[in-house]
This record gives sequence, C-alpha cells and structure tokens, in this order.
Amino acid sequence: MVHYSVSKAVVTGGARGLGAAIAERLAREGLSVALLDVNEVGAKETAAAISEATGSEVVGFGCDVTDREDLRDVFRQAADALGGIDTLIGNAGITRDRMFHKLTDDDWDRVIAVNLTGVFDSLRAAAPWLRAEGPGRVVLISSVVAKTGNLGQMNYIAAKAGVIGLVRSAAVELARFGTTVNGIRPGFVESPMTAAMPQDAREALMTDNLLGRAGQPEDIAGGVAYLCSDDAAFVTGQVLDINGGSVF
Ligand SMILES: NC(=O)c1ccc[n+]([C@@H]2O[C@H](COP(=O)([O-])OP(=O)(O)OC[C@H]3O[C@@H](n4cnc5c(N)ncnc54)[C@H](O)[C@@H]3O)[C@@H](O)[C@H]2O)c1
Repeated sequence: MVHYSVSKAVVTGGARGLGAAIAERLAREGLSVALLDVNEVGAKETAAAISEATGSEVVGFGCDVTDREDLRDVFRQAADALGGIDTLIGNAGITRDRMFHKLTDDDWDRVIAVNLTGVFDSLRAAAPWLRAEGPGRVVLISSVVAKTGNLGQMNYIAAKAGVIGLVRSAAVELARFGTTVNGIRPGFVESPMTAAMPQDAREALMTDNLLGRAGQPEDIAGGVAYLCSDDAAFVTGQVLDINGGSVF
C-alpha cells in the first residue's frame, strides 16, 4: 500500500503531454491538483477531464512561467483553491532547436526563460508554502540530454543541466521544513513536443533503448508519483533517469 502525506499539488505545463499525465496520476493517487499552463483553455479543459476521470479536485489556470507577477498571483489563487500547496512539479518546457552557431538571441533567451528561470521562479512563488512546517515534495523535470549532450540543443541542454543545480540546492534549502526535492531526467517520450521532430529521426531516437519502445508520458508520471509518495520520504537531492536504459 502506497501512502501520500502530501495532498495539494501544482503542476506547471499541465495542459498536455507529460504535465497532463503527471497531473492525472497525482489526481488518481488522491491529491488535489492545480494545472498551470500558458494555454489557459487547454489547462481548464485538461483539468476538467482529469477531475471527471478521477473524482479528485483538479483546477486549471492560465499562467506564463516567464511572467513573474502572473506566476505569484496564480500560485496564490492555486493555494486558495486547494487550501495550500505542499507539492510542486516543475514541468513546463519548450524547445527551439538549431545548431549553436545558428541559435538566435531570442532562441537562447526564450528557452532559458521558460526552462530554467521559469522553474526557479515557480519554486520561489511556491516558497511560502514549501517553507512551511510539514511534508512537502518538489519534482523538477530535466532531460536525458542534460547528461549526454545532443545536436542542436545547446540552449535546451544548458537549461536542463541548470535544473539539476536547482534540484541539489533546493534540496539543501528545503530539507529543514520537511520538503524533499528531486529531479527526473526523462529519455525521449511520445508527446506533442517530440511529435514535432522529423519523422525518421524521431522513430530511431524513440526506440534506441534497452527496452526497444518509445517512452510514454505515464512512464514519467509513475516516477513523479513515487517521488511524491511516502515511499520516497528518505529520497532528496536525487535525479531519477527514466529512459528505458538508453543511458546509464
Ligand atoms: N517529451 C520528451 O521526450 C521529453 C524528454 C525529456 C524532458 N522533457 C521535458 O518534459 C517537460 C514536458 O514536455 P512535453 O513533452 O510534455 O512537452 P509539451 O510541449 O507537450 O508540453 C509542454 C507544456 O508546457 C506548456 N508551456 C510552454 N511554455 C510555457 C510557459 N511559458 N508557461 C507555462 N506553460 C508553458 C505548454 O503550453 C504545454 O502544455 C518539458 O520540460 C520537457 O522539456 C520532455
């Protein structure tokens, strides 16, 4: 029997893909969930669908993680709706892939703003609740490429490697309040993000792992559920690789 001492989760980028699967899994485990997404309509629709499917309280909010004021307001609204926040899943992310000599200033700035600064700002917006006494959980989504490098993703990889730094430092700062902080480095997973990759590269990359199949959003959601559960009560500052054995 798996128990959860936490019960009120915020998931950024929860309208679709990994974020939606994570939100659904946490709702199935009995947590109340607030989905935050720059796609407000999507956030509300996904929240309603998950609530209907799971019977848990799930609310959707429009929120751009690069807008600091918006982020603080929405975290307050989410806390009001859920009766507090004890769990943060930092998942919102984008890609703007090009070989590094062709990356524009905007390609660099935007990916760092969403994938690194947006994760830090989400943590800071959640700080009043995560620094309260009592059990808390933070899971930040990095990427396998932060370990391996990859062609045409210098902006994305710099941000995702930075997320590992946020995991380690937030684990040290939040431990005294009973909040654990861990990361996940997903391998290639089928989602709207990877659906945009060229078909031939996509097929080859997706199945290039020991298990020979494409990762699914539910594979990542399972890892998040573990890290949020009481089974992971003594796990903090760690980064879990979920990639079918593509990289050790
Ligand atoms: N799919 C993969 O293979 C894979 C692998 C490793 C890591 N990841 C990471 O997992 C996370 C989710 O990826 P995905 O595949 O589900 O992507 P996705 O594009 O399908 O979903 C990302 C969600 O984030 C939202 N979002 C984007 N910018 C935002 C912003 N500024 N503020 C708030 N929300 C914003 C989008 O609207 C979307 O709903 C990302 O951080 C991604 O980098 C994905």
